Amino acid sequence: MRRPSGQLVKAFLVSLVIGYIISWAIMEYVLKTELRLYGVGNLSIVAILVAFLVIVVLDTPLNLKAFDWPTDDTAMDSWGHFFIVGVLIILVTVVMAGFLNSVNLLPVEASTQAIPIDWLFNLHLELIAFLFALVVVFVVYSLVAFRRRPGDTEDGAYFHGNAALEIVWTIVPLALVLYFGYLGAANLAEVTAPQPDELIVKVTAAQFSWSFEYPDLNKTSPGELVLPQGRPVLFQITSLDVIHSFWVPEFRMKQDAVPGIIRELRITPSLVGEYKVRCAELCGTGHANMRAAVRVVEPAEFDAWISGKAAPGTETNLSPAEQGAQLATNVGCAACHSIDGTVIVGPSWLGIFGSEESLTDGTTVTVDEAYLHDSIVNPNDQIVAGFAPNIMPQVFGQTLSDEQINDLIEYIKSLK
Ligand code: CUA
Repeated sequence: MRRPSGQLVKAFLVSLVIGYIISWAIMEYVLKTELRLYGVGNLSIVAILVAFLVIVVLDTPLNLKAFDWPTDDTAMDSWGHFFIVGVLIILVTVVMAGFLNSVNLLPVEASTQAIPIDWLFNLHLELIAFLFALVVVFVVYSLVAFRRRPGDTEDGAYFHGNAALEIVWTIVPLALVLYFGYLGAANLAEVTAPQPDELIVKVTAAQFSWSFEYPDLNKTSPGELVLPQGRPVLFQITSLDVIHSFWVPEFRMKQDAVPGIIRELRITPSLVGEYKVRCAELCGTGHANMRAAVRVVEPAEFDAWISGKAAPGTETNLSPAEQGAQLATNVGCAACHSIDGTVIVGPSWLGIFGSEESLTDGTTVTVDEAYLHDSIVNPNDQIVAGFAPNIMPQVFGQTLSDEQINDLIEYIKSLK
């Protein structure tokens, strides 16, 4: 086994310092990006590449003899192995952490709470990169360095116990886990802390739709959550039937919607844009489609929306049927009622208008406007044979306006 010359180590360390200064200057003055001190991300990869380049380029002119490794196969003592393994662990950690950072596992940060959460998440990724390197480098290095040589018929040395090692590998992980536990608790306290001037939004989940109410502003909004940028929001979340979970990935925070109790969640939207509420708790056949639109808007646009006036440039000229089509997606109808003839949870809407349907009580009914209206407002009144009662939420009489119900009916009529 060969040992790197002392010159290589010195050259590497000096080059690393130079590499860091160069890459820091690039990030600060050319790319104008924030220097992430805690990270071992792209900056470190650039620095190490620069370090290697410096050694290779300057080796001959400066007569460093960095690559003149001694060839004596027996010269390596165990500290030499540890030194090489240590350097390899640092290298593999940096490469792994850079890779994990670059694959963008998380969506855009759209709330102030996302910042500390992502910080802790990335710290975990870096620790994971280190643990990966620690295990893999030791194993692979040992496979290569201590492989059986031709003609070697001896057994390996027999070891029994190593108290110092066992103490170290108990204390170090314990300290790490406790430290990360502390970080997690501090982080949780930070992202759940009450804020001044909170906007209260009541969230009601039901199979398979979301409804939002702004009690202080006298506004309800089925299927669409509109929030002003920069104002802390206190969500009061509940459910009418089973357990759902309120989750907007871009906000990071998540809270269960549990029937009978109100759970709180605090989010301060920080980025104007369109997102989606996704139900994050398996709640039935429509779970995967249980979504609602989220719009984070400028405060002025929010005020205009609350007062019922559309912001300039956002008026729509949609026909009632087209409005109904949007509503069917936003309110959650589409999660249970297909428009292509397949039965998801409730009857498909394709060709249902004007058809004769048998009901669970044995009678038949012609699907007309009156029947559709009654089915939306009082879904348990007349159930089509083959379907069960109490599946459809019985809230649409309150959460939808007459105009919205008419739009839905027009939409269903258009599905021939
Ligand atoms: Cu509601 Cu899943």
